Amino acid sequence: MAEKYYIKGGTPLKGEVRIGGAKNSVLKLMAAALLAKGETKIYNVPDLTDVEIMLNVIAQLGAKTHYDKQEKSITIDATDLTSVTAKYELVSKMRASFIVLGALISRCKEAIVALPGGCAIGERRVDFHIRGLEALGAKIKIENGYVHAKAARLSGTDIYLDIPSVGATENLMLAGVLAEGATRIQNAAQEPEIVDLANFLNAMGADINGAGTSEIVINGVKQEQLHAIEYTTIPDRIEAGTFMTAIIATRGKAIIRDVFPAHLTFYTDKLLKMGANIKLIEPNSLEVSCKNRLNSINFITQPYPGFPTDLQSMAMTLLTTANGVGIITESLYENRFMQVPELRRMGADIHQDRNHAIIKGVKKLTGATLAASDLRAGASLVVAALMAEGNSVIENLHHIDRGYEKFENKIRLLGGKIERKNEDILPANLTEDIHNESYL
Ligand code: EPU
Repeated sequence: MAEKYYIKGGTPLKGEVRIGGAKNSVLKLMAAALLAKGETKIYNVPDLTDVEIMLNVIAQLGAKTHYDKQEKSITIDATDLTSVTAKYELVSKMRASFIVLGALISRCKEAIVALPGGCAIGERRVDFHIRGLEALGAKIKIENGYVHAKAARLSGTDIYLDIPSVGATENLMLAGVLAEGATRIQNAAQEPEIVDLANFLNAMGADINGAGTSEIVINGVKQEQLHAIEYTTIPDRIEAGTFMTAIIATRGKAIIRDVFPAHLTFYTDKLLKMGANIKLIEPNSLEVSCKNRLNSINFITQPYPGFPTDLQSMAMTLLTTANGVGIITESLYENRFMQVPELRRMGADIHQDRNHAIIKGVKKLTGATLAASDLRAGASLVVAALMAEGNSVIENLHHIDRGYEKFENKIRLLGGKIERKNEDILPANLTEDIHNESYL
């Protein structure tokens, strides 16, 4: 039976919450560990299904892995790799596993990796990854749904990305580490996760400059210069942004610890403009609160350091009850407004036209039965349910489990009324049953 969240809205979140390691960083560090022989240990690893999938991908390549959930660490011994194939069965479960393409072509000079295909939020092509690897000298064939890349040797060159793609920047950085000469990525992604990957690789013995800017230069090194390391992942800025949103949405007051506030400046700025209070109380701790009705804002999602697409659905949730009209333009994905029909079912007034959403603030949302369509849309529905009047049920939790570690436990620690239960309730009984306090 599928698990569901049962949420009773209207309780202001209070207290303290700790942010875990960044999903979108740790998955790439795990692939990068394949470059060096020996045992690499990564700390601050969040307990997520995506991490489990990446562990399986890496194990399939022959690396020995150990996941210590207590210590929040992963050990990867990539001394002997026995395969260069990442199978569709795993890549289709998590497109981020496509990152092993860069690591394998770098280390083994051959990679056979399933093409991830589209996903719910958009087409998500990988043409920049392929073209960049070809520019480095790899011969690439696409056959039977797989990318087959081979290179007698890779030679550094200048690569210009049409869009500052996070995944393409990462794959090309990995490929460039062991290429001959310098690889220069122009219009590179500047996300904190890119900087984390560069720091990780440099600690391993790579020579990468400019990560965090639009031009990254990777000076190729020899395999013997790379060595296994111990490394701690950066905090998850999207998890932190999600909790900031939930505290503000419920008119609460709480401290968020283990956050790098500099990674969230754009989002923080927008929240302040809406009327929330955000105070830096220690270098890695923020106090977030909100008493009054928020003001509407307009924004466009953009690559870092612009407004993060991964927090677009969160901000939309806040706009549903803000004063005035807010306009959101989603510029990264074709289909990232899947929370809209669900929010409308809670009473939100949203008009959507292709990649624009016009949100007219209503007085309140009311609880409903809601289905998570993808990770971030799903998490935003949890926030909406926490701020709504009455009770909500949220289905399809497997999406949320991909990116939020013990989400319900952290919300409960802040006083939120949320339970995860393995019960299938017929819609006819629903209204009656979710009003029963035993669910909450
Ligand atoms: N694109 C292309 N061709 C390419 C590569 C990208 O057209 O070869 C397009 C994509 O279709 C998309 C845009 O460029 O429209 C940006 O894609 P990008 O490659 O930057 O994204 P990604 O690497 O696939 C990562 C995160 C996403 C996050 C985006 C943007 C991971 C595992 N995923 O995806 O995170 O939204 O960057 O910041 O790092 C999430 O965590 O919920 C999530 C979806």
